[in-house]
Amino acid sequence: MSGNVEAPQETEGWQLEGRGPEAYEAYLVPKFFRPWAERLVSVAGTAEGERVLDVGCGTGIVARSAAPHVGDQGRVVGVDLNRAMLETARREGAHLTPEVEWRQEDATELSFEDDTFDLALSQQVLQFVSDPTKLLAELRRVVRPGGRVGLNVLRPIQHNPSYEILAEVLERHVGEESGAMIRSPFPEWSGATLRELMGEAGFDRISLLLDIRPVRYPSAEEYLRQEAASSPLAASIAGTYETVRTKMVDRLEEALEAYTDRDGVVFPMETHLVMAS
Ligand SMILES: C[S@@+](CC[C@H](N)C(=O)[O-])C[C@H]1O[C@@H](n2cnc3c(N)ncnc32)[C@H](O)[C@@H]1O
Repeated sequence: MSGNVEAPQETEGWQLEGRGPEAYEAYLVPKFFRPWAERLVSVAGTAEGERVLDVGCGTGIVARSAAPHVGDQGRVVGVDLNRAMLETARREGAHLTPEVEWRQEDATELSFEDDTFDLALSQQVLQFVSDPTKLLAELRRVVRPGGRVGLNVLRPIQHNPSYEILAEVLERHVGEESGAMIRSPFPEWSGATLRELMGEAGFDRISLLLDIRPVRYPSAEEYLRQEAASSPLAASIAGTYETVRTKMVDRLEEALEAYTDRDGVVFPMETHLVMAS
């Protein structure tokens, strides 16, 4: 998983299947981004005719999940910095009504007028921006008075143990930078920290939910392969893959033993879901 997913090159040895955003859409979206998006859209009470903004939309799963709820009288817009992610979003959402608008924009400097939306949603983005309060203030600005804001933000890495294990394996066999990249989606933010951030941005009615769900892969090797294929580090991992692959997989299998069963590996993923108005 990654914040700013660039499209890595196809690299011999690592067997990347397509470009990064496509791998992200094929592997990570069905496993957890889609279930998170569906819950976010549902908890937010997304309703017929509403105007909905998906901030840091990536390949667009939140916007795409919201579209059927708002119907043809509604409006859905997805914004992201990353052009390649937006291209995949556009392709995947081509069949939807209403037609989702996809825009390349910085979430901390949105181009929309004040009060443009009824609902702003943002899934796994807040932890990647340098100024989270600025992003939240932008959401508050573009949502009308009485509107809502909903966010998903992963819990700290100790609550997502398979990623801590993966980060350690990458640190040991690939380098500090790879480990740091895998750790980056898991900010050290408690529920209280999120409340504080929301409060600083001017929200007062804040509610927190936890989302804890199992994620399954057919093997530890497949877990490593899919995460790497969907990561901006794919190319650098691929460069060392030939020589260290077996060691990495062996170490991962050993460390994930407690999460191994007949069908492969299965582990919990934990995220915060924050609603505010
Ligand atoms: C982990 S992905 C989540 C994507 C999407 N929300 C989803 O649920 O699949 C994080 C996304 O945030 C985007 N992003 C990071 N910083 C951003 C910024 N300042 N403005 C807009 N998008 C940003 C990245 O390009 C990336 O697509």
